[in-house]
Amino acid sequence: MSFFDEENTGQDNMNLPDENEDFVEQIKKRKREGIEIPLKENTQGMKNSTYLEYVKLFHNALPELDFEEIDISTTFLGKSFSAPLIIDSMTGGTDEAFLINKRLGQVAEKYGLGMGLGSQRAGLKSEKLVESYSIARDVAPNAFLIANIGGAQLSEGLSTSDILKIIKMIDANALAIHLNPLQELIQPEGEPRFKGILKKIAILANDIEIPIIVKEVGSGISADVALRLESSGIKSINVAGSGGTSWAGIEKIRADQQNEHIKSRLGELFWDWGIPTALSILLVSKSVRMPIIASGGLRNGLEIAKCLILGSDLCAMAFPFLKKASQSEEELERFTKLILTEIKSTMFLLGAGNIKSLKNTRYILTDKLASVIGNYE
Ligand SMILES: Cc1cc2nc3c(=O)[nH]c(=O)nc-3n(C[C@H](O)[C@H](O)[C@H](O)COP(=O)(O)O)c2cc1C
Repeated sequence: MSFFDEENTGQDNMNLPDENEDFVEQIKKRKREGIEIPLKENTQGMKNSTYLEYVKLFHNALPELDFEEIDISTTFLGKSFSAPLIIDSMTGGTDEAFLINKRLGQVAEKYGLGMGLGSQRAGLKSEKLVESYSIARDVAPNAFLIANIGGAQLSEGLSTSDILKIIKMIDANALAIHLNPLQELIQPEGEPRFKGILKKIAILANDIEIPIIVKEVGSGISADVALRLESSGIKSINVAGSGGTSWAGIEKIRADQQNEHIKSRLGELFWDWGIPTALSILLVSKSVRMPIIASGGLRNGLEIAKCLILGSDLCAMAFPFLKKASQSEEELERFTKLILTEIKSTMFLLGAGNIKSLKNTRYILTDKLASVIGNYE
């Protein structure tokens, strides 16, 4: 039985009638499709990659380390993490999301990871959807939890008091604002309006007490965008580059289902659009002075180690965690342990006893990544 065939996955009272019922039902449907489609269809990058395969590391035959003494703990924005890993922002707002966030929260708490919630607009629209987000804090009282809202919604006029509500909803340690112009462009109900967004981010950075992280959702951040974001007073950038989940791909499939011909064609054209994750980390980390989160197509601990070596401070994965969380708690935990062991194993083979030493490891860039960086001005 697939995850989406399970009955009674969430809370009964999430199905009660609501004032703006139609609108809420629409959001719930979209949220449901947003996890169902990537789980059932291939919505990963097709012709692109993260470019992490062009980062070469040097084997250390004299590590002078015992495997068990390797320390993968780190700090980020003043908070301790047991591992340099975040479960990237994904979901909320449906019964399925309630269960996913519960499982992800449990793992974040147990393994000392960070966790991002999905866009919380649904929770603002209906009180009954709040617990599909707040469940994460219920099961993860000590984890670094990241609230989430779209830049497009901010641009449209979401108020500071709305933002304070979503922060309170999960007692968040940080707020992520996602920039997703490609997704808004392809999405049948998309709102591709980002005028005035940087100013709104700057006002918010001034108004709220917790740090703001600005993230992409799979198309990467350029050096220029990073510099403009730095001027707004935000505290971290999650590059979320291309090579992993393609939101153009997910929205193309939704557009097909709704017979939206032009949106479907756009989704096809821009399926692989974006800055590959490895390139985005290099561009952003060399341009701004703030901690960087790497994400977008990271699928194992070796790739995570490479991102840290390239200049990121933490790494995040979305789709792999969704896949395992939709299977079972056991699968999710087994996967988490594997990833942490892979990070540690890479560090052992590089002779790096802790994250600081890992970040000082030598590397070379090859092939396409070397030539893009070589030609970059
Ligand atoms: C099912 C799903 C839902 C997502 N929803 C959100 C969201 O609500 N807000 C957000 O900032 N990013 C969202 N993302 C983007 C991820 O946080 C991440 O940036 C992106 O998927 C790249 O990581 P990946 O290749 O490991 O999936 C979502 C990703 C997935 C797979």
